[in-house]
Amino acid sequence: MFPNTHPFRLMLLLVGLCSLLLAGAAVAQNDTPAPLTLLCDPVALRDQQAQYAALLTDFDAASQSDPAAALKTLFEVGAAYQTLALDCGYIPPDAAIRTVGTEVERILNTLDTLYGDPLNGQVLYSGALACSGCHMVSGGVVAPHTEGTFTRTEETRLSDPLLKDYTPEQYIVESIVNPAQYVAPNYQPVMPTDFGERLTAQDLADLLAFLLSQDGPSPE
Ligand code: HEC
Repeated sequence: MFPNTHPFRLMLLLVGLCSLLLAGAAVAQNDTPAPLTLLCDPVALRDQQAQYAALLTDFDAASQSDPAAALKTLFEVGAAYQTLALDCGYIPPDAAIRTVGTEVERILNTLDTLYGDPLNGQVLYSGALACSGCHMVSGGVVAPHTEGTFTRTEETRLSDPLLKDYTPEQYIVESIVNPAQYVAPNYQPVMPTDFGERLTAQDLADLLAFLLSQDGPSPE
């Protein structure tokens, strides 16, 4: 009945197939998604998501009666959604330049995707961040020596039952972003507690690489 339909359809089908194949190849080459570790309880995640969704059920009405309040809610719920996704293991494409916060598990998950440069770590440590102001005071009186940090972590700190099951990376990261969690014996809790808000993930990756390289004997 329609003699021209057939070849035309065939051509469409071919074009469609080709673009599918091309798209598939592009995904396979560039966008292979990294396997995601879900860091939070999936049930809690769904419950929390449902609560956020509930906060927006009146949005339609609220946006007409009080647009400012409605937008404020929208903004806050959006931010809460982002935090939830981050806490549950999502690693945003700009993770390296975001500040790390204080969730050690989440941070370690992000650091797994970054390469730490020990030389830059040393520059930060002795320069902009002034870690050395406390950690390179002779005699280790103010703070534990920089020298041997990794060795001391493995051989001394991690044998404390309070740090059972910690990895060296976990201990060092926690010591930086949440120093009050474990105060090393014979020291005062004087280390600043705001590094989580000041360091990007890349800064922390670099610092960690530098501290992991301190694997000679610890002076203590
Ligand atoms: C004002 C002094 C001070 C500054 C600045 C400081 N720290 Fe500390 N830090 C301490 C003290 C004191 C301790 C030991 C007490 C404790 O565990 O909180 C410590 C502990 C640590 C530990 C654990 C070492 C161990 O032997 O257990 C690491 C790692 C560390 N700091 C890294 C850093 C880094 C990285 C910076 C810079 C970003 C920094 N510190 C800045 C005082 C400081």
